[in-house]
Amino acid sequence: MRKYIIAGNWKMNKTVAQSVELAKAVVEAAKGIKNTEVVIAPTFLATAKVADVVKGTNVKLAVQDVHFEDQGAFTGKVSVDMVKDLGVEYIILGHSEQRQYFGETDVSVNKKVKKTLAAGLKPIICIGETLAERQGGTLETVLRTQVTGAYAGLSEADALNTVIAYEPVWAIGTGVTASDEQAQDTQAFVRSTVKEIYGEKVSESITIQYGGSMKPDNAAGLLKQKDIDGGLIGGAALKADLFIAIVTAAEQSV
Ligand code: PGA
Repeated sequence: MRKYIIAGNWKMNKTVAQSVELAKAVVEAAKGIKNTEVVIAPTFLATAKVADVVKGTNVKLAVQDVHFEDQGAFTGKVSVDMVKDLGVEYIILGHSEQRQYFGETDVSVNKKVKKTLAAGLKPIICIGETLAERQGGTLETVLRTQVTGAYAGLSEADALNTVIAYEPVWAIGTGVTASDEQAQDTQAFVRSTVKEIYGEKVSESITIQYGGSMKPDNAAGLLKQKDIDGGLIGGAALKADLFIAIVTAAEQSV
């Protein structure tokens, strides 16, 4: 049985003080949550302070990216060891905004995934197609390329420690959500791609989240789908009550 993972991606939102406040509200609201992994990803700047808030609670800490080198002359970057030292357990990698605005490629995602796993942390590997790609009939090619690229050179044991977030680019921050069927069909395809590479044991173990305008009113329908094991939440993660309503929908889908 795969465990649901609901992760809040705060993106470039919230000051340090606001992040601490939101983290405290999430911790408080998540107290009764037993079967769902609750994860929050503040900015790098707020990570240390938020780490103090979530320490010893059932809320796990993530960051939104990391660099693949260990240290040195890489202005503006942060290493895996630096975030690990703060208690970070998950690292979101290959988000479509990273790909679209900051030159992220399948090759750089793969390097970051390897670094993350080598440090004993869990990558949340984001994949997803644009509307033009879906309408142009290249959905499966795009997703297969992203999956094979991210997992290149990874062992079966490594693959078991990964999470995939399927996020159709056209659904991110737009208010347009994939329908339950669209998301299920696509996520089943993603799982079959993992199966082609690693076989059934791995493909059935890996958590595949859905992301893209997931909200309290559509979460239950999406989370009931066989191949949807959680959510990567942007906008609705910025308010503790909305975020926890999604967590609760996951908890009730178990
Ligand atoms: P959204 O963002 O929930 O605001 O659509 C999701 C994401 O980009 O991870």
